[in-house]
Amino acid sequence: MAPPAKLTQYTQLILLLLAAAVASDHLTLQQAAAAADELQGRPQQGLGRPGCRDKCGDMSIPFPFGMDKPGCFLPGFEVTCNTSSTPPRAFLAYNHSEPPYQVIYQYAFDTESGATSQIEGRQAVELFDISLETSEVRVYSGVNSRCFTNDSAGLDKGEYMELDREGPFLLSSTRDDLVGVGWNAEPSMTYTVKASPGPLSCTSNLPFMFAAKDGVCSGLGCCQIALPPQIPTLPVISTGLILKNYINIRWETNPCSYGMVVERSWYNFTEEDLYGYEVLSTKLSRGFPLVLDFAIRDGSCERDGCLSGNSSCAKAAGGYVCKCREHYNGNPYITDGCQDIDECQLREQSPEFRDLYPCDGICTNIPGGYDCRCKRGMKGDAKKGNCAEIFPLSAKIIVGLAGWIVVFVIIIMAKQHLKLKKFYAQNGGPILNGVKNIRVYTRKQLKQVTSNYECVIGQGHFGKVYKGTLKDKQQVAVKKSIKVDKDMKKEFTDEVIIQSEMRHKNIVRLLGCCLEFDVPMLV
Ligand SMILES: *[C@@H]1O[C@H](CO)[C@@H](O)[C@H](O)[C@H]1NC(C)=O
Ligand SMILES: *[C@@H]1O[C@H](CO)[C@@H](O)[C@H](O)[C@H]1NC(C)=O
Ligand SMILES: *[C@@H]1O[C@H](CO)[C@@H](O)[C@H](O)[C@H]1NC(C)=O
Ligand SMILES: *[C@@H]1O[C@H](CO)[C@@H](O)[C@H](O)[C@H]1NC(C)=O
Ligand SMILES: *[C@@H]1O[C@H](CO)[C@@H](O)[C@H](O)[C@H]1NC(C)=O
Repeated sequence: MAPPAKLTQYTQLILLLLAAAVASDHLTLQQAAAAADELQGRPQQGLGRPGCRDKCGDMSIPFPFGMDKPGCFLPGFEVTCNTSSTPPRAFLAYNHSEPPYQVIYQYAFDTESGATSQIEGRQAVELFDISLETSEVRVYSGVNSRCFTNDSAGLDKGEYMELDREGPFLLSSTRDDLVGVGWNAEPSMTYTVKASPGPLSCTSNLPFMFAAKDGVCSGLGCCQIALPPQIPTLPVISTGLILKNYINIRWETNPCSYGMVVERSWYNFTEEDLYGYEVLSTKLSRGFPLVLDFAIRDGSCERDGCLSGNSSCAKAAGGYVCKCREHYNGNPYITDGCQDIDECQLREQSPEFRDLYPCDGICTNIPGGYDCRCKRGMKGDAKKGNCAEIFPLSAKIIVGLAGWIVVFVIIIMAKQHLKLKKFYAQNGGPILNGVKNIRVYTRKQLKQVTSNYECVIGQGHFGKVYKGTLKDKQQVAVKKSIKVDKDMKKEFTDEVIIQSEMRHKNIVRLLGCCLEFDVPMLV
């Protein structure tokens, strides 16, 4: 089942197209319906049984409807295509004795003399749209009029439709209205045979002509009422109706009153329709649209079911109908008729589908639906359109900054390490490291020994002398040496080795040195 929102949308769309059809002489209702088909993404071909025509002009004729020969349609669904007109016109087939058919009549009356005359004929019902999705067809239906030539005589004219209680078609009680137009009009429709709650009717009265308002159909010049709900045993099968009032005192300016059964919201009342002879009934050459429900009445879901996969069967008044499951379209009445809808492709085709299949992200078609994911770096429900950045901008800036700081610190530490190594080598580290009695301190160790160069015990022109304590509590002095360059490296190391070997009471013994400074430190 299509959700109601979707249905309403389609209806509006079709009404819009139909309105456009009236506005322009180039578009017929049939072409408008074909355009609507295209927008709904309904395949335009391959909806008939193999070997059967499935088009009449632009209009698609999907099975169970069909043409030409038995086997191409189910009983009651035969369509005839008249190709002698341009574009070709489709009709529900009938054989002059069985409904459905349209009755055309003219009936002259003269209240004073009581003289009457009557002409009646039948014709096929013209189709302009078949929808398997909603199990509905749209047909052209006529307007009934009563027009006066003086205050008590005139002509009843129009057409009404007769349907077969047992046949596929019934008036759609949810989609059609009874409408009356006139300064004093009361159309009434007899729709049940027995146990009738009275005929369905509405009343339009207009005591003051200026009270009529364009677009408003509420009893002043125009009235409307919904058809009663279908009761399977007593369905509404005729659009025939009676106009009351055989006297018209305003016959000179407002000679006619009208009644019709028409697709809801299709008729837009205008004050002009109250004036002039047969104005409303000649407004549309083929008549107004009427919606009929169809169903296969000589069968049931249990017994017959639906042929296509991905379809479902539903009971309908006295029979059953088939539908493609959601996200499938095509023809549920034929093998493999229901095909997956490519929602993503449709989204690209028109804005209607962007509303119908919402996706604020990356759309991917999957069988029986579509997948919609947020774009990279976003999360949330993309179908509901609430994708949000995983990291908001502020967090990105903070993370970015922190990253740069870490990189920066690592670079500084690496540089420092290289510098220490360079001093170590420059000051003869590799040579001194191998010598007994000399300890080579690291910069860190020296910092510990002197408690972060806290206590200065002397200061000469060569630099500061610091007091320090080794791990074994031995007191030492730490002093800067002279700057060592490449040439002096050998001399410096030799000197250090000699000094370290000297043991004398009055000479401060050299314990070691730290080379990780530009100028070596002696301990
Ligand atoms: C087809 O339509 C033409 C005029 O539009 C009409 O004269 C003719 O009888 C129609 N043919 C059939 C088979 O209904
Ligand atoms: C026309 O209707 C009669 C009476 O029901 C029926 O016997 C006949 O088969 C029908 N003809 C066609 C062509 O459908
Ligand atoms: C109204 O017109 C009918 C025929 O057009 C005529 O027979 C009748 O006498 C007229 N009535 C009046 C009151 O003029
Ligand atoms: C009906 O007609 C009136 C007057 O022409 C117009 O203002 C209004 O918009 C129409 N409504 C629809 C639904 O077409
Ligand atoms: C329903 O359609 C899917 C592809 O859209 C297909 O794989 C599957 O076979 C179909 N199911 C049936 C019962 O045909």
